[in-house]
Parts: sequence; C-alpha cells; structure tokens
Amino acid sequence: MTQQSSGSSLSSPHETVLVLDFGGQTAQLIARRVREQNVHCVLVRHDISPERIREIQPRGLILSGGPMSVYEKGSPQPNRGIFDLGIPILGICYGMQLVCREMGCEVSPCPSREFGRTALTVVGESPLFLGVPPEQLVWMSHGDQVKNLTAQFTPLASTDSCPAAAMRHHTQPIYGLQFHPEVTHTKCGGQILRNFVQEICGCRGEWKMSSFVDEQIVALREWVGKSRVICGLSGGVDSSVVAALLHKAIGPQLSCIFVDNGLLRTGESEAVRRRFGDHFGVDLHVVDASERFLTALAGVSDPQEKRMIIGRVFIEVFRHEALSIPDARFLAQGTLYPDVIESGADKDGPAATIKAHHNVGGLPAELGFELIEPLRDLFKDEVRALGQVLGLPEEMVWRHPFPGPGLAVRCLGEILPERLEVLRQADTIVIDELRKNNLYHKIQQAFAVLLPVRSVGVMGDGRTYQEAVAIRAVQTEDFMSADWYPMPYEVLQSMSTRITNTVRGVNRVVYDISSKPPSTIEWE
Ligand code: XMP
Repeated sequence: MTQQSSGSSLSSPHETVLVLDFGGQTAQLIARRVREQNVHCVLVRHDISPERIREIQPRGLILSGGPMSVYEKGSPQPNRGIFDLGIPILGICYGMQLVCREMGCEVSPCPSREFGRTALTVVGESPLFLGVPPEQLVWMSHGDQVKNLTAQFTPLASTDSCPAAAMRHHTQPIYGLQFHPEVTHTKCGGQILRNFVQEICGCRGEWKMSSFVDEQIVALREWVGKSRVICGLSGGVDSSVVAALLHKAIGPQLSCIFVDNGLLRTGESEAVRRRFGDHFGVDLHVVDASERFLTALAGVSDPQEKRMIIGRVFIEVFRHEALSIPDARFLAQGTLYPDVIESGADKDGPAATIKAHHNVGGLPAELGFELIEPLRDLFKDEVRALGQVLGLPEEMVWRHPFPGPGLAVRCLGEILPERLEVLRQADTIVIDELRKNNLYHKIQQAFAVLLPVRSVGVMGDGRTYQEAVAIRAVQTEDFMSADWYPMPYEVLQSMSTRITNTVRGVNRVVYDISSKPPSTIEWE
C-alpha cells in the first residue's frame, strides 16, 4: 500500500466502473462523480491490461481526458485489447479522441479551440442522453477534435465549432463525449454519467460510503497483518478519519501520536484526548512539546522561518515518540487526492504538476515506516461523509481546515505565550459567534489573526495602546481561490464588542475584505 491507495480496492464485490487515467486534471473527479451514483469506481493506469480488467470484471470503462494530443509522440495510449472485451466504454475528451482514432477516425487540431461554457445541441437518440434537454451548456476544454466520424459511429450532439461533440458506436457499447460531464459547469453531467452507469453498464447503484468502510477494513487487515500502525493525529478531519478507520480495522494494533505544539486553539488537545483516548479507547500518545516549540520559535517573526522551525521540531518530536513504540511497521497518513495531484506526488501518473503543497510527505521516508494512505483516492467531502459513517462527531467532521503550523502563522510577529493566549481568546469568540448565528457551515474557513500593530484606544477614563485583531472569513470551493465573506454587520458587531470587552490586550478589531488572489487565506 506504499504510495498506493487501499481505497483502490479493485476486486470489490460491488459493481465496479474503472476510470483509465490519461492524465487529465479531472480524472479522479470522474471517479468521484460515478461514486455519487452509488457505483464503486476507481482510477487505474491508462495502460491496464485486458487480462487484469477481466479479473476485476468491471461493468464499464471510462477513458479520461489528458493534457496531450492523441497523435503526439509519447502520448499515453490504452492497451488496444480493451476494445475487444465487450465492456461498455465511455471516452471523455482525449478519451473520446483515442477511441475514435483507434477505430479509424481522424483527430486534428480544432479550427477554433474551445475552452469554457459552450452551448450543446443533442442531435441523436441514445440512452446516454436520456432525460437530458436538447439544448444545454457544457464545459469544453480542447484543442483537438474528431474531424470525421466514420460510418460505424453516429453523432449524438454538436456545438457550433464541434460537429462531433458526442457519439456512439453502431453495434458496440462504445460512447464518446468531447465535453466534460464531470465538472459542475456541465449542468446535465451528473445525468449523463448516471445514464452511462445505469442504462449502458446496467449498474443498480448499490455502493455506499459504508461499503467503502467495509472494503477498507478487509484490505487494511490483510495489508497490516499483525503489525503495529502509527497514526499522527492533528485534530483535523483527515487524520481523525484515518485513525477512526484504522481503529475499526485493527483496534489495539493502532497507536496514535498527537503532538501538542503549543500552537493549538482553545480545547483542541482535550477534544482529541476525549474522542480518541476516552471514547474510542485508542492507544493514544499525547506529547506536550509546547515548550520545545516555543523555545525554538523565540525571537522569530519571519513566516517561512516559523514554518521551517515548526516542521523540523515536529519531525524530531514525532520521531522520538514513534521510535519509542515497539514493533511499529506502518505509518498512516491522511493524504487526500487533491494533495496527491497538486503536489505531483503521483509520479507514476501522466498528470501535470500544479503546485507544491504543504501537506504531502510531511514526515520523511527515513523514519523507515511503510506508508498507509487510505484516503488517497478521496475528495474532502467524501472524507467527511466517511467520517460521519465512522461515527465521528459533527464538529470534528465539519471543522474548518487549520494549518499545520497552527496559530504561529496567525500570530503575526513574534510568538509569545501571552500573545498566543490573546489570539486563542479572540479566535474562540469569532468561532462561537459564527456557530451561534448559524454561519459556521456557510463559510469554509474563518479565524482571528493577531496583528503586531499597536493603536491608541480609550477604555474607561484611561488611554490604551494595544494590539489589533483581524477577523478573516472566506468562502471557497477549493482553497486555491477564495472570496471574503460578506459577514452581517450585527455579527461583526458582536464579535468586535466581545473581543474588545473581554480579551485583555486588544483594543481594536478589523475585518479582512481581501480575496485570494491577490491575498492568501492565511496572513502569513
Ligand atoms: P493560503 O493561505 O495559502 O491557504 O491561501 C490555503 C489553505 O492552506 C492552508 N495553509 C496551510 N496548511 N500548512 C498547512 O497544513 C501550512 O503551512 C499552510 N499554510 C496555509 C490554509 O489554512 C488554507 O486552508
């Protein structure tokens, strides 16, 4: 399972659809959309052999998009034998071009490349477009297209500049879409994928997140045997879900390590202790390393330096604790699919790297453990659904993300215990007001920031000269871009009044009205 997902439990007893990954950024999203139709779906290598496919016995194959041109030298190609298996095939974008080219059609650069929303007209009858309106908007992103469909294909839909925007084979269950049904901009994309899996592949749609749990438990037990697994808990949803899943699978063979770095928010350490130590009865090692972290951070104001110090000390503390646990062989991590794809960590895959991410590969390989990453195929909201199935409490499952360096990157300037305490109190008020006003779930991330800026105030009859708190609240789909949240004035007012009245050391509150880009979500 090292660098491979136990989530890809291929030999599922359920109806399975395979997505052959040709490197498109949305390949995993296709799999996730199929799972939304309650059909087990996993991503596999683009050149998976027909023999392996026969063993897995999938109901359908989906050929994903890809960044290259099908006629380019070195472009990923499928094993030709997959077309003779009689299994329904849906080619999407590059996938459609592959199918068509394989069957004698010409693929060439478009006269005008199409990117973004495009009007589509359905022109032919087929189960793929059942219940889909004849005119609709779809998401296109292509520089090539199928020029001439040969007589064995029927066109099913067209756009102004793409006559074969969808097609089917006359006699075989082979379909193609030039547009992307998996992205939300394609309004009827869900219906089209549902039609493919239900009407064409004949799936009944019986797979559920609880089935994923059952399969994972079997796979994890088999993989781990009698060995011990260490899981680093951060208090966040991903590591909590991994720990809960492993606990269900291997019970006493799991040891969790929670490092209290002194940069956590109010009550976080206690919540982890209560949930995993008391409630689940996990062998939980809470390491209070606050002093060590704060000593290492003393006098440091530069954000990147803070991050480097915290990363280094974390590894030292974690290593020391992990090595004190006898017989540990595996290390479980809550890596999600977006972490994998964005970091380019999926080195075997053909996808292009987008950005370096801070969460992947946090602990170095030299620790000598084999990695278990059971969430490696999942998206955040699937992980949340999994957390609910595993019985994690709502506030853990729906918690806003919290950065690894914790309050250090929200306590601008020097990190001192008393400044951290001020920040903790202000942050608790911000979150409390959001919850009280039923806003917490409308916002993807919100927090307080302590600014190293003093300003003059007046309290009672006296003059104050104290620091300021900034409130940050954003709405975002993927955290790569974000909008500031138009917080109701009354809520801002309550936050501000409570903070200035009760948090000693703060006499001014400001609201951050910057979007990302050009700002970032965190202030450091
Ligand atoms: P930015 O500030 O880059 O944040 O817009 C995007 C998301 O990433 C989180 N973030 C971090 N997470 N270590 C982490 O684990 C970090 O160093 C870090 N910096 C930012 C941030 O909270 C937001 O969710």
